[in-house]
Amino acid sequence: MKKTLVYIVLATLAVACSDVVNEVPDTPFSTTPYTFNFNKSVLPPVNIPVDNALTVEGVQLGRMLFYDPILSADSSQSCASCHNQKNAFTDNGLARSTGINGTIGQRNSMPIFNLMWHLDGFFWDGRSDILRHQAIEPIIDQTEMNETIGNVMAKLSNSSRYSLAFSKAFDTESIDKELIGKALEQFMLSVVSANSKFDRVQLQLEEFTIQERTGQVIYNEEAITINEERDPNNPENIGGDCFHCHGNSLFMTREYMTNGLPNVTDIGRGGVNGNARDNYKFKTPSLRNVEKTAPYMHDGRFNTLEEVVQHYLSDMSDATADLSEEPNMHALRDSVYLSEEHKAALVAFLKTLTDDEFLDNPAYDNPF
Ligand code: HEC
Ligand code: HEC
Repeated sequence: MKKTLVYIVLATLAVACSDVVNEVPDTPFSTTPYTFNFNKSVLPPVNIPVDNALTVEGVQLGRMLFYDPILSADSSQSCASCHNQKNAFTDNGLARSTGINGTIGQRNSMPIFNLMWHLDGFFWDGRSDILRHQAIEPIIDQTEMNETIGNVMAKLSNSSRYSLAFSKAFDTESIDKELIGKALEQFMLSVVSANSKFDRVQLQLEEFTIQERTGQVIYNEEAITINEERDPNNPENIGGDCFHCHGNSLFMTREYMTNGLPNVTDIGRGGVNGNARDNYKFKTPSLRNVEKTAPYMHDGRFNTLEEVVQHYLSDMSDATADLSEEPNMHALRDSVYLSEEHKAALVAFLKTLTDDEFLDNPAYDNPF
């Protein structure tokens, strides 16, 4: 009885084994999981969409696409043309980007890093809520790469380099919009900035200078509303209140805000959701690497950080948006006076957010 059982089991195993052997394709599809190597304690937990786990092959494909002018109609422009790694993936000093036909766009190019923590809204007005969909928009935008998805798919399918790269990343040579978007999403999500002087000071590996430390205090101090006579030399009033909107380890909130820029014509967020209260509000940018992302604001109106700081101290306008919403920008405008020394300290602190390792990281550079 026992013997028979053993035979049956063995026979079944043999059949099972031979089946498996017969079904094994020449090269089974497998990908290598992508591993992040930044210091996990300085940023929020890794946050990757479940349906697009990062793989070495997918990130590499996305990186090729990002740097390849093949995505534009006349093969003259890649994503990197307006998103240069050396400038924290912003444009090369242009207030507003220029597309392939020389058309000047409406807005300032945006930095690309730490995007895994703003998966809920892309572009200055947050009109795209999924990164892989966002990635397709510049390709078809007439003022940017001005190409059709049909043409892009055809061009990529005719390239043996891409047929191979798509099969390695996604086990298919049939290239479509979704996969192009997913590959670009993977590359962009792999781009992390977490090793600025600020981070190293948090980890107690370095120390701020006295000036940077003063700047940090100004950055994180609340502006106090005073009804008394304004006193530019009142040492109490150094609260720059920057942290309210550019707070936490990402140096941004995930909100659409106004910072009182005068003469804004672009209605920003309100144009997307039709809510008049959101008119003239924009995605609050991260201030990491801000030293490298000039010119500043959605329209690139300021060339230097000193001009930006001066804006927050004097020129804020509530002509276009209500500044009294939380946090109260009136308090900042009406009560904070920084001496030249204080302004310089605030700028010095902002410069501690520059991450040279990220700006020079060969993994994010042109793969060709
Ligand atoms: C002609 C210049 C130009 C090209 C080419 C370009 N971009 Fe952009 N990019 C911009 C501008 C300008 C914005 C802001 C646009 C807006 O808010 O309306 C932007 C915004 C973005 C954002 C939003 C970031 C955020 O924090 O919300 C991402 C991501 C991005 N681009 C990725 C890409 C990718 C991927 C490509 C290539 C497929 C690309 N860009 C090609 C100029 C360009
Ligand atoms: C009420 C929220 C709020 C406060 C407080 C605030 N900001 Fe901003 N900041 C914004 C918004 C919103 C933008 C983008 C505005 C736009 O482009 O129209 C911005 C843009 C910037 C930019 C430009 C970044 C870029 O990439 O273009 C810098 C630099 C900046 N802020 C620094 C500061 C500093 C320094 C302080 C403190 C003195 C501060 N901010 C306080 C909301 C705020």
